[in-house]
Amino acid sequence: MESPTPSAALEEVLSGEILRMYQEIVEDPAAEFHFFHGREAAERFGYDPAELDTVPAGALASFAGVGNPHERAHLQPGETVLDLGSGAGLDAVLASRRVGPSGRVIGVDMNPVMCRTAEAHVALDGGVMECHQARMEELPLPDASVDVVISNGVLNLSFRKRRVMEEMHRVLRPGGRMSITDIVSAKQLSQSIVNDPKLWAS
Ligand SMILES: C[S@@+](CC[C@H](N)C(=O)[O-])C[C@H]1O[C@@H](n2cnc3c(N)ncnc32)[C@H](O)[C@@H]1O
Repeated sequence: MESPTPSAALEEVLSGEILRMYQEIVEDPAAEFHFFHGREAAERFGYDPAELDTVPAGALASFAGVGNPHERAHLQPGETVLDLGSGAGLDAVLASRRVGPSGRVIGVDMNPVMCRTAEAHVALDGGVMECHQARMEELPLPDASVDVVISNGVLNLSFRKRRVMEEMHRVLRPGGRMSITDIVSAKQLSQSIVNDPKLWAS
């Protein structure tokens, strides 16, 4: 059997850390993490506190985004939204409310536990979401099939960001839009940071 290339091997280690870390936020949201999460993070990133009072408690407690993609997504009733890296589902819950029963919320998360958790939170909120266990580098969706892509703190986790951008463009309908909140470094990161799965995963 061929041994994996160094970058494939690192990607596998990184995936394992990502699976573990975000699942831990669902299983034990009160634990210590070295990044903001839960209600504190959501309020810091400008989510409406009054609306946060009304969302399923688990979706809020395990929220792990880095910004608020809804500020610019301007989701409309009837639209089809793709939520990349759905996590525990706070963004999916809000998307489902905005697009309403005539719209559609499709999630993609590589962790099946996150997918089922996000779907359950949207259902608890009275909406419907279909979440696919898949990688955002290989979206299991047809070309030109969604109106809006949202994602929150997910692109930075990918080893193949250009590939993710290509996939987002492929699935967007002509005239579609994307609202992405993420982490960008203006400085070249040192190799010791780049090669640390824990730092990359968060
Ligand atoms: C920062 S959380 C998303 C927060 C979420 N929007 C919310 O409302 O709480 C990141 C999620 O992206 C998923 N993820 C990370 N890398 C991925 C990849 N390459 N493909 C699909 N999902 C990925 C993780 O499993 C995790 O659930």
